Amino acid sequence: MTGFAKDFPILEQKVYGKQLVYLDNAATTQKPNSVIDTISDFYRTDYSNIHRGVHYLSERSSERYEEARKKISDFIGARNPGEVTFTAGTTDSINQVARSLEPSLKGNEVLVTGVEHHSNIVPWQMAGAKPRAIEMDEDCNLLLDSIDITKKTKLIAISHVSNVLGSVNDIKKITEIAKDHDVPVLVDAAQSIQHLPLDVKDIGCDFLAASGHKMYASTGVGVLYTSDRFSDLMPAKGGGGMVDKVSLEKTTYQEPPLRYEAGTPHIAGAISMGAAIDYMQKIGLDKIEKHESDVYSYARDRLLEMDNVTVYGNTDRMCGSISFNMDQIHHYDAGLIMDKMGVAVRTGHHCAQPLMKSFAIEGTVRASFALYNTKEDVDRLIEGIEKVEMMYT
Ligand code: ALA
Repeated sequence: MTGFAKDFPILEQKVYGKQLVYLDNAATTQKPNSVIDTISDFYRTDYSNIHRGVHYLSERSSERYEEARKKISDFIGARNPGEVTFTAGTTDSINQVARSLEPSLKGNEVLVTGVEHHSNIVPWQMAGAKPRAIEMDEDCNLLLDSIDITKKTKLIAISHVSNVLGSVNDIKKITEIAKDHDVPVLVDAAQSIQHLPLDVKDIGCDFLAASGHKMYASTGVGVLYTSDRFSDLMPAKGGGGMVDKVSLEKTTYQEPPLRYEAGTPHIAGAISMGAAIDYMQKIGLDKIEKHESDVYSYARDRLLEMDNVTVYGNTDRMCGSISFNMDQIHHYDAGLIMDKMGVAVRTGHHCAQPLMKSFAIEGTVRASFALYNTKEDVDRLIEGIEKVEMMYT
């Protein structure tokens, strides 16, 4: 193993006799030794419930959990750790916002884009709002000059990076437009937090959702940034840990972040997010971005050169994922053959059926990249595609 891949033990294996090339990182990323060791050490040495006991282990666990919150807070540029809530992941974060804002959303609309993941569509519908997409051109650039905010627009909820195309949306411009209309903005950062530097103050968003498992940490944990200006939202979940006083007549809530964290959280998961941030910062975020950008551009160029391949989306800035189809070959068949070549890609609609509909397709093959991928991995992807073509012609 070379480069950063040597830090990821799972990548050492062969599948079907071929060295594994893992290109399904938009679905989930693999974990470096330092994250695996942190989780294991935590359960071996410090594990207990948090914020509840006076005993030594509870104090240690609480400290480590809050240290992780501080790391995430600094990583995304929050004003203070109180703005960062641990959740079960991006989907949970978005659902919590939908529940908390439900009274204002009901019967109104949420402005989204045509590239959204279902998790940034369905929760708004369940809260009684109608999602409406900002227009985009045929390359999937958002047409922000024609953005139409009406009295019914109660929220703008935008993915930073498309999980299908890798298109990067100009979220800062969107928050500037939103401010003129006093409409809050939620950023779905599930596909950006692992690739691009984030600063919520600079972006100017009110909510930001992300997952641990897509940024080299555990599954089942994520974060929701909620700007201080929403520190008194009705919590989406009730239970232990989030209350101040409870009686059968009336309950009062804690201040954030505990206000928004009912029940025992995923303590080890939160700590794993802190370890993943340490890992990325040790390499250097600039270095990661430069490396990933080189590999990503190389992959796009190689795919665009291929006669039988259609690549979807072509926006001003792109990262992470590339979606494509091969002429006359079903995406699922292409993915299966690539798997036998040791190349792991995802096929299907990628939880983005409205986007598939706009391309008049059922699905794509998606290659998605992480910091451990290399140009050699791209060469293996291309070999896989050539093999698929050979088998079908
Ligand atoms: N949202 C994940 C993906 O795009 C699961 O694959």
